[in-house]
Amino acid sequence: MSRKAKTKHACGECGYESAAWLGRCPGCGSWNSLHEEQVDEGSARRIPGIGVSAEPRPLASVSVEKEPRISTGIGELDRILGGGLVPGSVILLGGDPGIGKSTLLLEASETIASGAGKKDPCAVLYVSGEESAQQTRLRAERLETKAGNLYLLCETDLDAIERHCVKLGPRVVMVDSIQTMYRPDVSSAPGSVSQVRECAAGMIFLAKKKGISVFLVGHVTKEGTIAGPRVLEHMVDTVLYFEGDPHHQYRLLRTVKNRFGPTNEVGMFEMGDCGLRPVINPSRVLLEERAAGVPGSVVVPCMEGTRPLLVEFQALVTPTSFGMPRRRVSGADYNRASLLFAVLEKRAGIILHAHDIFLNAVGGVRIQEPAADLGIGLAVASSLRDIPVRPGTAVFGELGLGGEIRAVNQPGARLKECARLGFDRCMIPHHNLKGLDAVDGIEVIGVKSLQEALEAGLAV
Ligand code: TYD
Ligand code: MG
Repeated sequence: MSRKAKTKHACGECGYESAAWLGRCPGCGSWNSLHEEQVDEGSARRIPGIGVSAEPRPLASVSVEKEPRISTGIGELDRILGGGLVPGSVILLGGDPGIGKSTLLLEASETIASGAGKKDPCAVLYVSGEESAQQTRLRAERLETKAGNLYLLCETDLDAIERHCVKLGPRVVMVDSIQTMYRPDVSSAPGSVSQVRECAAGMIFLAKKKGISVFLVGHVTKEGTIAGPRVLEHMVDTVLYFEGDPHHQYRLLRTVKNRFGPTNEVGMFEMGDCGLRPVINPSRVLLEERAAGVPGSVVVPCMEGTRPLLVEFQALVTPTSFGMPRRRVSGADYNRASLLFAVLEKRAGIILHAHDIFLNAVGGVRIQEPAADLGIGLAVASSLRDIPVRPGTAVFGELGLGGEIRAVNQPGARLKECARLGFDRCMIPHHNLKGLDAVDGIEVIGVKSLQEALEAGLAV
């Protein structure tokens, strides 16, 4: 049968397909996201499925066999997955190049394989489409990988990978990366929207049918989203992002979607000469190099999922030498910070229009939650007035446009983390005082407005 190749255009965001190129995707409204691809007429379209039988039946009659989760042997990874790997689940791991995705997965492969012991002749299959067998072996030597039941396959043809999976029957498969894989019956190039989608669908089908847990490594685009169709994130069970500044040794692993556990959980790792090491006490690490008593520095207990994390915000406010004052923000949301600067000017008389402002969350962390507002505001005011916040003080609270301090969630957990790390004073929203249990060794100051907070925080 002769096959005719046709051109189509697929959207990188939502997977919408169109015969003609369009500037704006009718599916999701994003601009310039349609890419040209070749398709074979007559090539079978695979649709991801999760079971072979498709007979409707009463939900109550579906039996739930509680299969134990598989421990990855890496405490931080288990925790953010919600207590280990669910058999048959598919996890997408995204992150910038060189952040440590392959290192993390190879380490997890080693610990899972050695945990499974001799009863599992092939516990883990590591499929590498990016590095040769020698390169992976060199990395494994660096990580001191010894498990005999960890198998390596350097292959990019998904049909071959599926065959090997069926033959070997591993418990866990690592696919590094989904953008290098291809299906021979889809004619577009590896990494294209159709290939990524079809390959992911193939792996998901295999995972659900055979009960294999699958990790897919996904590349990240310049904008910070996983390259390929956005639908990839919808198709998998769990999405993890590995982030952090490659110039720093600390890395954060964050869950953005989890069908089997909590989201927005964060695990912290340190990249060393022998691979990644979980950081057990992240707050201490983040505050390690802090010079207390410096103007512009404020510590904020932030919540990352269910875990409190003490983060130092540093502000440097200097007179501007240009007509247009500069604003540089790293580790916090730029728009939110601009709004806070405006509230400071309008509600507290902190005049900033002739000053450059540099704001930084120390340690390469990125904090989005509004509970950091008051800390950021205080850091900026402290730097402008050149008055340090009293050592031993931590601050949290959301700032409203009227200059009022609004309550935030989980004040108790935040206070406890401050006390654990030796802070003896915490400034919190007044509304959070109601029903709050006292925490030993910490004096709590409830504030209602920005003005009040500045008076209490920057008293000389
Ligand atoms: P890698 O896992 O290859 O990143 P990714 O797969 O996300 O692209 O990590 C590569 C970086 O990590 C590289 O810059 C070297 C560094 N590294 C260490 O510092 N220590 C180690 O033990 C290993 C294996 C890598
Ligand atoms: Mg890699």
